[in-house]
Amino acid sequence: MSNETLTITDNRTKKTYEVPLFKGAVRAMDLRQIKTDAEDFGVMSYDPAFMNTASCQSSITYINGDKGILRYRGYPIEQLAEQCTFLEVAYLILFGEMPSETQLKDWVREITHHTMIHENIKKFMDGFHYDAHPMGMLVSTIAALSTFYPDAKNIQDAQVRRLQILRLIGKIPTIAAFTYRHSLGLPYAYPDNDLSYTENFMSMLWKMAEPKFAANPALARALDILFILHADHEQNCGTNAMRSVGSSFADPYVATAAAAAALSGPLHGGANEEVLKMLDEIGHVDRIPAFIKQVKGGKGKLMGFGHRVYKNYDPRARIIKQAAEEVFKVTGKNPKLDIAIALEQIALHDEYFIKRKLYPNVDFYSGIIYQAMGFKPEMFTVLFAIPRTVGWLAQWQELLQDPEQKIARPRQIYTGYEKRDVVPMAKRTPCKN
Ligand code: ACO
Repeated sequence: MSNETLTITDNRTKKTYEVPLFKGAVRAMDLRQIKTDAEDFGVMSYDPAFMNTASCQSSITYINGDKGILRYRGYPIEQLAEQCTFLEVAYLILFGEMPSETQLKDWVREITHHTMIHENIKKFMDGFHYDAHPMGMLVSTIAALSTFYPDAKNIQDAQVRRLQILRLIGKIPTIAAFTYRHSLGLPYAYPDNDLSYTENFMSMLWKMAEPKFAANPALARALDILFILHADHEQNCGTNAMRSVGSSFADPYVATAAAAAALSGPLHGGANEEVLKMLDEIGHVDRIPAFIKQVKGGKGKLMGFGHRVYKNYDPRARIIKQAAEEVFKVTGKNPKLDIAIALEQIALHDEYFIKRKLYPNVDFYSGIIYQAMGFKPEMFTVLFAIPRTVGWLAQWQELLQDPEQKIARPRQIYTGYEKRDVVPMAKRTPCKN
């Protein structure tokens, strides 16, 4: 296409500027030349929540929010969820291509080799209070890994980076399972390297006195699918934290801890836990209209509904709904499902939600499945963080290899006082605070 530029007229000075378009975007730095005079700083862009700002170029995940499309490295999420395993998808996300049979075998062996954690990490985890939230324990323990692997600081070395990636993907289910056992006061169950990634995780969670844990294959597969669906989602709040912290060349453990901290919020990955609380609060199908009325009146949100990018159905929610059927065949139906389905139907036909393009997101049904599988609601966001670690690490690698990236350092529009002088204590009057 020729003439990929914008012509901007500054009505303050009547000057005209021709600004190139880069892949359909304006480079914010090209606006800086627009000044009223030589002293002027120049025009900046203002976008507090990144509503219309691309912070990077990425070839990992493609989303078309209007059409409800999600692809990893070009492959539709529906095909990946149906035909692949989580570790196969992890390889694809991290390295850009599907593994061959031998590559996959080697990859699974490498990850499995890193599932054990240092005994001192176990001791560190023992120090958490009995009722500590598992997400708080997970975030802190991931950050603590940084102190166990000082070599991780050498982030410019590709081999060192690869080793930390293996360690993080291998160890995060172990740490996650230990947070769960800790909260129940149960002894930790060590990894069983004969099992698949999800089966081993289930074993570390639920193994009691039996010599070998036998996971239900349908439940292990459902968890694998849920992990595939959560593995990456381009530049969301958590990934942005990973990139922002990673851009200072901090090691991948503290950067992953920052990303997990961002994920823990109720507007992000913490929403799945909130959905369950909301369904409990509603309690019965008959009380849905009153609840919807309350939300429309501005009292709270319908948790698990709405998305910054998807303004059509979230494709992950559709796959999760199918996976739920398989889980319920084994576990029996979660009684909350009836409330959730009725709530979804009422919301989808309500003018308020239609007008704002609010649809169920990934978190709406995931919590219901997790609960049916035996997870406590406090574990839901931890279950999100395990697979998302793969996406965070792929994004981190991409950031470090991108010659355009520098330390993330936004500008601000200062709204405070002009210069003023300190008044001596005796002359100050109490301020309002
Ligand atoms: N329930 C009721 N109203 C809602 C909801 C909701 N779940 N979500 C958005 N709205 C309303 C807003 O109040 C706003 O209304 P207004 O125009 O009258 O002011 C309008 O819809 C637009 O919403 P925004 O908050 O501007 O949308 P934004 O893109 O900033 O937020 C978000 C997206 C945070 C996901 C929001 O929809 C939300 O809070 N949802 C509930 C929490 C949730 O489920 N989060 C998980 C998201 S998926 C994930 O992170 C993994």
